[in-house]
Amino acid sequence: MYVLGIETSCDETSAAVVKDGKEILSNIVASSLEFHKKYGGVVPEIAFRKQLETISQVTDSAIKAAGIPLKKISLISVTNEPGLLGSLLVGISFARGLSLSRDLPLLEADHLYSHIYAGMFGLKKLPLPFVALVVSGGHTSLFYLRDFHRITPLAATQDDACGEAFDKTAKILGLGYPGGPLIERLAKNGDPKSIKFNCSGTKHPLNFSFSGIKTAVLYYVNGIKKRQSGKLYKRQTEDICATFQETVIDTLIQKSFLACKMRRSKRLVVGGGVAANNRLREKFNSAAKEKGISVYFASPRLCMDNAAMVAGLGYQLSRRDTPR
Ligand code: KG4
Ligand code: ZN
Repeated sequence: MYVLGIETSCDETSAAVVKDGKEILSNIVASSLEFHKKYGGVVPEIAFRKQLETISQVTDSAIKAAGIPLKKISLISVTNEPGLLGSLLVGISFARGLSLSRDLPLLEADHLYSHIYAGMFGLKKLPLPFVALVVSGGHTSLFYLRDFHRITPLAATQDDACGEAFDKTAKILGLGYPGGPLIERLAKNGDPKSIKFNCSGTKHPLNFSFSGIKTAVLYYVNGIKKRQSGKLYKRQTEDICATFQETVIDTLIQKSFLACKMRRSKRLVVGGGVAANNRLREKFNSAAKEKGISVYFASPRLCMDNAAMVAGLGYQLSRRDTPR
C-alpha cells in the first residue's frame, strides 16, 4: 500500500511516498530556514507564505521521485497538530483538496506520534509496547504506547521545550539559529564538568523544565562579560555548550529510564529534532546497555521534520487490525 505523506507543521514543506509503512520511496523536504535566520527563530507568517508557494511543487516532486503514478496512492496522511496554525492549514487544505479531487481517503496524523514512528523505519517488527521520548523544538514529552492506536501521555515540559532551550541558549551565546547543531559542534571541544548547571526540579518526577538552565546560562554569560569588558572567549563558549548539553542529556536520560521503570518497559524509542544529537545518542545507548533496555532512534535525517514519518504513521493508523 502506497501512502502519500504531507508535513507542514513548522518551517518545512515536505511530501513523501512510503510503501507499507516501511519503504521510503521518496521524501522531499523544502525548508524556509534561510528566511528565518536573521530573526533568530521561525517567523510564522514567513513560514506559511513559503509553504503556500511550494506545497504543490514539493508534492509533485515526491510523487515523481517515488516513480509511481498518483493513481497508485491509496491514502493521504497529513499532519494536523500540533504546530503553527497557518502552516498546518496549508498542508491540511492542500491534502483535503487532493483527497476530494482524486477521491482518495485522507487521514490526519499527530506530529508528535509521527516523530515516534520515525524510529520504526528499518525495523522488521514494531517493538511494542514501549516508552517513547519526543524531543523537538516545540515539545518534550514522554508517552507509553501499547500500539499506535493506544497512546498514553506520561509527561511533558512545564516550560521551554528541549530544542527551544538549545535554540535560546545558542542565542544567548550569539551563535545563530537553529541552536542545537551549533551547540553540539562547539560542545565537542568543551569540558562538560567545567561549570555547574542544573535542570530545575519538577513536582511530577517525569515532567521536564528547561527554562531554569537557560536562565542560568544567561546569568553566567552576563557575569563573564562584565568581568571581561563584554568579551566571551571561544574556550568559555565551548565549556558552556558542553556543560549545558551534558546536563540536558543527563536529565532526559534520567526521566526516560524512570518512565521505563514505572511502566516496566524494556524498550525505549527516542525521536524529534534533538534526537539527531550524537552525544545524546551515545549517552542513551550506554545508559540503555547498563540497564538492559533496548533503545531505538530514528536515523538522524528522519529525526527532523519530514513527511515520510507522517506517511508511515498514516499507514499504521489505517490498519485497524493487530499491529505488525
Ligand atoms: O523536530 P524538529 O525538526 O522540529 C519540531 O518539531 O520542533 O526539531 C527542531 C529542533 C530545534 O530546536 C533544533 O535546535 C533541534 O531540534 N536540533 C538539535 C540538533 N539538531 C536539531 N538539538 C540538539 N542537537 C542537535 N544536533
Ligand atoms: Zn517536529
